[in-house]
Amino acid sequence: MIKKRILGNSGIEVNPVGLGCMGFSHAYGTPTDKSDAIKLIRNSYDMGYDFFDTAEAYIGVNSDGTVSYNEELVGEALKPIRSHVVIATKFGIGESAKERDSRPETIRKSVEKSLKRLGTDYIDLYYQHREDPDTPIEEVAGVMSELIKEGKIRAWGLSEADAEYMRRANAVCKVSAIENRYSMMGRFYEKDFPAFEELNIAYVAYSPLANGILTGKYKAGMQFDSQTDFRAIMPQFQDESYKQNEELFYLISSMAEEKNATMSQISLAWMLNKKPWIIPIPGSRKPERMKENQEAANVQLSSEDVKKIDSALDKMKMSDYFGGTGRK
Ligand SMILES: NC(=O)c1ccc[n+]([C@@H]2O[C@H](COP(=O)([O-])OP(=O)(O)OC[C@H]3O[C@@H](n4cnc5c(N)ncnc54)[C@H](OP(=O)(O)O)[C@@H]3O)[C@@H](O)[C@H]2O)c1
Repeated sequence: MIKKRILGNSGIEVNPVGLGCMGFSHAYGTPTDKSDAIKLIRNSYDMGYDFFDTAEAYIGVNSDGTVSYNEELVGEALKPIRSHVVIATKFGIGESAKERDSRPETIRKSVEKSLKRLGTDYIDLYYQHREDPDTPIEEVAGVMSELIKEGKIRAWGLSEADAEYMRRANAVCKVSAIENRYSMMGRFYEKDFPAFEELNIAYVAYSPLANGILTGKYKAGMQFDSQTDFRAIMPQFQDESYKQNEELFYLISSMAEEKNATMSQISLAWMLNKKPWIIPIPGSRKPERMKENQEAANVQLSSEDVKKIDSALDKMKMSDYFGGTGRK
C-alpha cells in the first residue's frame, strides 16, 4: 500500500504521483479528442492517480477548429468520482487581455468560470499561475481567504514562486502548495526547500521529466509540429542537445538498470525519495506511460542513491532546457 502525501497546510492527502493534464489540450501537439481524453483521465484513476492538475490557461485548438478547454475534459472525466479525487487548477493567466492578471475582480470571474468548466462546486487547490506585477500578493491572498471561507476552494498555492514571495503570501492566508518546475535538469528551487519545509508547504513538481527528455525515449532527428508543439522550440529537444546530455542520460539509465526500473521512474523516484513533501505531476496521454510513471512511487532509492545523483548533477554539463532561466 503506497503511503499518501499531504498537500501541506491543507492536510489534503494524495497519492505520491499526480497527473499533469495540460498535454490533453495544450503545448504538445493537437489536443486529444474529447471523448478519448475523458476515457484516458478516468482510466488513470483506476491506475492510482487521484490528483489532477489543470489550469484555465490550458486551451488548445482541436483538429476541427473548436476549442479544447482542459478544465472541461478534466471536470467531465472526474465527475463520477469527484469526491475521491483532488483537482488543482490555476488563475492569473488567460482570463483577460492583460498577460498576467490577478486583480481581485479578475480572480472572482476566473473562479466562477473554472467551477463551471470543471462542473463542480469546489476546487481543491487553486494556484496563482504566475505573479501579477501590478497586484501585490497580499491582495491576492486576501481573495483566497474569502474563497476558502465561501467554500469555493479548499486550499491555495502559487506557481513559479520563490521563498520570499511565498512568505508574503503565507502571512496573509496559509499557503498549502507550490507548483514549480523541478527535474534533474532544473534544480534551481532547491535553495528554497528549507523555507517550504519550515512553512509546511508541499512542492508539486511540474515538468518533472524535463518535458519528456529524461525518459530516454526521444532521439535526435525527431520532428515536432512548430504550430502546436512547444517541443519544436524547446532547447533540450534540439538535435545538438542529445549529445550534450549523454552523460545525464547515462546517469539515469545506469541507475534504472541497477534498480530494475525505467528512466522515467528513476527521474521521478529521485525526487520522491528526496523529500516526503514533493509530489511530481508528470503529464502523459498514453496509458502505458501513465502506469509507468505512477509506479515510480514503488521504486526505492536510498538517501545515498539520491546524494550520488545530486553530486553527479552538480558537476555535469548539460544542454539548455525549457524554462532553464528560472522564474518567469
Ligand atoms: N504551473 C505551471 O506553470 C506549469 C507549467 C508546465 C506544466 N505544468 C503542469 O505539469 C504537468 C507536467 O509537466 P509537462 O507536461 O510540461 O512535462 P513532463 O511531465 O516533464 O513531460 C511530459 C511529456 O513527457 C512525455 N512522457 C511522459 N511520461 C513519459 C514516459 N514514461 N515515457 C516517455 N515519454 C513520457 C509526454 O508525452 P506523451 O503524452 O506522449 O506520453 C509529454 O510530452 C503538465 O501536464 C501541467 O499540468 C504546470
